[in-house]
Amino acid sequence: MPSHEPPPSKDQEVQRTFNKITDYYDRMNRLMTLGRHAAWCRDVAASANVPSGGSMLDIATGTGVIALAALENYPDSSIHAVDFSERMLTEAARKPGASAITWQYADANDLPFGDGSFDAVTHGYLLRNVDDVERVLEEQYRVLKPGGRVVILETCPPRGPLRHPVTLGVRVVIPLLGQLVARDRESYAYLQESTLGFMTPKEVVAILRRVGFTSVAWKKKFFGTHMIISARKQ
Ligand SMILES: C[S@@+](CC[C@H](N)C(=O)[O-])C[C@H]1O[C@@H](n2cnc3c(N)ncnc32)[C@H](O)[C@@H]1O
Repeated sequence: MPSHEPPPSKDQEVQRTFNKITDYYDRMNRLMTLGRHAAWCRDVAASANVPSGGSMLDIATGTGVIALAALENYPDSSIHAVDFSERMLTEAARKPGASAITWQYADANDLPFGDGSFDAVTHGYLLRNVDDVERVLEEQYRVLKPGGRVVILETCPPRGPLRHPVTLGVRVVIPLLGQLVARDRESYAYLQESTLGFMTPKEVVAILRRVGFTSVAWKKKFFGTHMIISARKQ
């Protein structure tokens, strides 16, 4: 009798995808965002407002761009960076300055930190990769100190008059670059789908408020395909 393996969960597929594309990740990101990704990460790090001697957690750190930007802003703070892709963490830990950051394997659904551990939590392109956005944001609320901030960089579906040309651009350009640069059209087809299929800023804001966050603010970037959202724990 043929055996039927259970299909891999979304988390397992995401983990496999990021372990697979690690070598091309930074180069592809620069190309897909026309070099803007690093500036958005600096913006996220600056918005985290970590107090002197404080602590920050960057979740889904990938190759560590937000965590390393935070280190420049807050050299006397303790920066933790977690991801569930071992290969991404290894790549991040090789970068200049990386030894000042604590890199750790962790799943965003179940963070291995106590309640109220951090002054700020950041993440880039995490939410569109998880099954349960609310649970992941609840975990972040839990590990933040009262008054702490979360800052989120995420893609969002384009709206308004540019919606159709930008959607077409994303559909064509991302898989094409994936094919040309990484020779991996399949992984980048997933990234293209998850970019266009994710929530609007207002939908994310509604979940943040439900979880208990206040002072929620957001701005859009890059033809309305990216958003940076910040919020405070009461
Ligand atoms: C697109 S990369 C973003 C990396 C980085 N934040 C940036 O802005 O370049 C997404 C990262 O999220 C990680 N990730 C996705 N789901 C996760 C989860 N449930 N727990 C921990 N990391 C996760 C992936 O392994 C991957 O490294």
